[in-house]
Amino acid sequence: MKPTVAPFPAARLRRTRQNPAIRGLVRQNTLTVDDLIWPVFVRAGTGIEEPVPSMPGVMRRSVDKVVEAAREAAGLGIPAICIFPYTGMEERTEDCAGAWDPDNHANRAIRAIKAEVPGIAVMTDVALDTYNINGHDGYVVDGEIVNDATVEALVKMTLAQAEAGADIIGPSDMMDGRIGAMRAALEAAGHQNVMILSYAAKYASAFYGPFRDAVGASAALTGDKKTYQMDPANSDEALRLVERDLREGADMVMVKPGLPYLDICRRVKDTFGAPTFAYQVSGEYAMIRAAAQNGWIDGDRVMLESLMAFKRAGCDGILTYFAPAAARLLQS
Ligand code: PBG
Repeated sequence: MKPTVAPFPAARLRRTRQNPAIRGLVRQNTLTVDDLIWPVFVRAGTGIEEPVPSMPGVMRRSVDKVVEAAREAAGLGIPAICIFPYTGMEERTEDCAGAWDPDNHANRAIRAIKAEVPGIAVMTDVALDTYNINGHDGYVVDGEIVNDATVEALVKMTLAQAEAGADIIGPSDMMDGRIGAMRAALEAAGHQNVMILSYAAKYASAFYGPFRDAVGASAALTGDKKTYQMDPANSDEALRLVERDLREGADMVMVKPGLPYLDICRRVKDTFGAPTFAYQVSGEYAMIRAAAQNGWIDGDRVMLESLMAFKRAGCDGILTYFAPAAARLLQS
């Protein structure tokens, strides 16, 4: 049934915008600190906080500093932190064995956070790109990204992260069949309560550029990721991927990038009603920071407006490098 709209002057839609009290009363969506997941970069060493040039305000931190950051995030009420390792070329191999090393930077960080800041949920990244000599999320054989051998490696990586104490596994690799394989392995190993937040609809996007600098993958990457990440022109395929991942055992799903893909967020939420997240990725973050630094936009207001847009599009939460800054603004 179509709602009937009364004609002017019975309907003056400005009436419900007349002051803050009334605007608050009719406000449809809210953004709170509960909606935020903070991605952080962990690297070797101790006492290190190294700025990422293409992401102003973002650091690569040694494990001790990641723990400090987690403590700060928990203090701000941020419910979850997501760990990404930075690896130098010398830490990358063809077999990507570093990915399931219980003592790699990510797993050390997970263990340290769970020991010292138990209240914050820890999410991980599952993909081979940060351990791969060629920067791809999967094994490369004769120039092709091979699916099934990659899934076996991703399962080992998943189990190592669960052993380290991860609460939420975040497969960002886009291989077929990985969610089912990970879920089965987690169940068999007694990790029934470890969740999977699947990067279900992940696009082959140019917005990931600054992230690849942050994790050391830019120099390593040969070619592009178009045979496994989605074509930005597609929308129905996102629904097929989400449907598949939920059926295989994903607890939550993600759309990535964020702001340019809000139509996908809305379709996913309306179709499945599952916990739906968006990743406001590095390039989106860098654009807002850069424009703000130039005085071309009001950085704080654009930050909060962009995060609210995700809520309006149906997302339950957002992975964002703005998490601590946004949490502080929301507090005040
Ligand atoms: C790696 C991964 C990427 C991001 C998250 N996990 C990059 C990629 O797929 O190349 C991007 C995050 C960002 O841009 O902020 N599998």
